[in-house]
Amino acid sequence: MIHGKLKAVENERFFQIRVGTILPDRPIPFDLYVLLRGKHIHYLREGQSLTLDKIKSLDRGNVFYIRESHRQFYKNFIFDRLNEESLEAGVKASILRESSMTLAEEIFEKSDVSEALTESKVLITQFIDFMEQEPEGMAHLISLSSHDFYTYNHSLDVSIYSLGLGSASGYSREQLIELGRGSLFHDIGKRNVAVEIICKQGPLNDVEWAQMQKHPQFGLKILTENGASEDVKACCFEHHENFLGNGYPQQLPGEEIHHMARIVAITDTFDALTTKRSYNEPRTPIDALEFMSAKLANRYDPDLLKAMHSVLFKLKKVG
Ligand SMILES: [Fe+2]
Ligand SMILES: [Fe+2]
Repeated sequence: MIHGKLKAVENERFFQIRVGTILPDRPIPFDLYVLLRGKHIHYLREGQSLTLDKIKSLDRGNVFYIRESHRQFYKNFIFDRLNEESLEAGVKASILRESSMTLAEEIFEKSDVSEALTESKVLITQFIDFMEQEPEGMAHLISLSSHDFYTYNHSLDVSIYSLGLGSASGYSREQLIELGRGSLFHDIGKRNVAVEIICKQGPLNDVEWAQMQKHPQFGLKILTENGASEDVKACCFEHHENFLGNGYPQQLPGEEIHHMARIVAITDTFDALTTKRSYNEPRTPIDALEFMSAKLANRYDPDLLKAMHSVLFKLKKVG
């Protein structure tokens, strides 16, 4: 049911937020809108709240809209929730992930990649701050992985796993930021691969596969033109290299592959194996990792593959 005056708002820009970022029975410091037949309709007035029943009745993937002029209110609202001592880490992780999904979506829809690169720092820093504040934060975030395939979901999940693996490898905060951003942009080159190939259900033929395998080169070009760091470029260009030296595009052997790209190689495959696509059933995280260790082990840095076990093992404490 739509509350308040059923008024459409014109000449105002809006941005999307996900229902999962709103907690029940808490006054909301901004107006909420829904989209109906192309028009933004007022749904809830600033200072009002949503009941638990109402939130439950809404689909988890549902979105609301907020006026662009209220964006800072929303950012402060999320920041306050993430810093609220009495909120459980699992609830905070869920709010963080849900709010990041819309942010990641916005980043991926930007045609200006240098702007997207700048904004990605905010997104990744939020995750690192959360990991530093909450000892079990990473495990909670991992347990919330979406397992649905959309480029931004995939990239966001790869970033989260990579941050787990990076911190298990002793990375500094600055290194984690670069690793997180590199993970977020690892497949940016797919923008230049024909959409029919990207969306094809089932195996690719030789010509299509050759085109798909160019995405690291395409990505390197895009990132270079937009001033990305060396680390971010390496994550993109080297994430399909293989520890044995028979990956692509350079056939780099083990130690010559950038360390961050070795992380992305693992987290990228892990996410692909655990993600639901129309032509394959997803594996459970433990199955996927066992499969990678048994069948694909020599593709990856053995120390990192071991560390991935411990990153996911922490998950058990939460689940
Ligand atoms: Fe890729
Ligand atoms: Fe990928």
